[in-house]
Amino acid sequence: MPTGLHPGRRAAAAPAPARPRRRHRLPAALAGADPRPLAALDAGGCRPRAAAARLRHHRGARHPRRLDHHRPRDTTLLVHTPQGVWRVEALVADLAAGPRALPLEKADGIVSTALCDLVSRRWVRRMAEALAIPFYAALNVDGREGFYPSHPADRLLARGFRRDQIRDKGFGGAALGPAAPAAMAAAFRARGFAVRTAPSPWIIGANTPVMADSLAEGHAGAALAALPRGHGPAIRAWAEARRAQAMRGRLSARIGHTDLLALPPPPKRRR
Ligand SMILES: C[S@@+](CC[C@H](N)C(=O)[O-])C[C@H]1O[C@@H](n2cnc3c(N)ncnc32)[C@H](O)[C@@H]1O
Repeated sequence: MPTGLHPGRRAAAAPAPARPRRRHRLPAALAGADPRPLAALDAGGCRPRAAAARLRHHRGARHPRRLDHHRPRDTTLLVHTPQGVWRVEALVADLAAGPRALPLEKADGIVSTALCDLVSRRWVRRMAEALAIPFYAALNVDGREGFYPSHPADRLLARGFRRDQIRDKGFGGAALGPAAPAAMAAAFRARGFAVRTAPSPWIIGANTPVMADSLAEGHAGAALAALPRGHGPAIRAWAEARRAQAMRGRLSARIGHTDLLALPPPPKRRR
């Protein structure tokens, strides 16, 4: 199974304050959908705990929920939330096959975290065509990113990282990268779904130097791989400068993400 590491980021506006509460409206709307999802498939999960942490915010949930968690590990986790218990399970599936990989007959909702910027436009279109149940995709990169303070080579790094972001990740074409939120919204709206989005940026503070440094290192590695070799010295110098800043507690970053919820149109009533 191909792995999908997070692709490119690009510098943009100064870091905006995180608005963590707004994104929680989407899982609440999912839990409150009519009919309410009772069993959800978590597509492309790798850590049940990550999925579970996300789902704690399903404030509308009142009954136990079940999640089938697609990963090659037999893991079951019970998550106790104020609204009830979620069961998170691990299954094996190659999601490159799109909706065919998912036991949709057992699910009344699809959720994913940090997956849909890896997939292709075609993959999203096929998913939208196959689904008649809610689709919730959290943490899709949206390109509103930057390291702070700024550095003269930021644009070069951003270019390389953006190129890496759209590299084919095995989902039937170029990865969507930062185009993911808009592409998903268009595909699901075209099928009559009601689509809502909310920002869910990662804010990496200067008080977490190891995290800030790792992020910069990841960007540099991706840019090195994506750009001509002649850019190597500039990219390495950028990474060294960023590491020094991080170790002095001077480096912060904002990685823009957008969450998306698509709710299907109500089923047509028979006359
Ligand atoms: C960025 S990670 C996100 C993981 C997890 N959802 C989380 O939020 O921590 C992307 C995940 O997609 C998985 N993945 C990539 N290609 C896949 C494929 N063809 N089939 C199934 N999973 C895949 C990777 O193994 C990885 O776990």
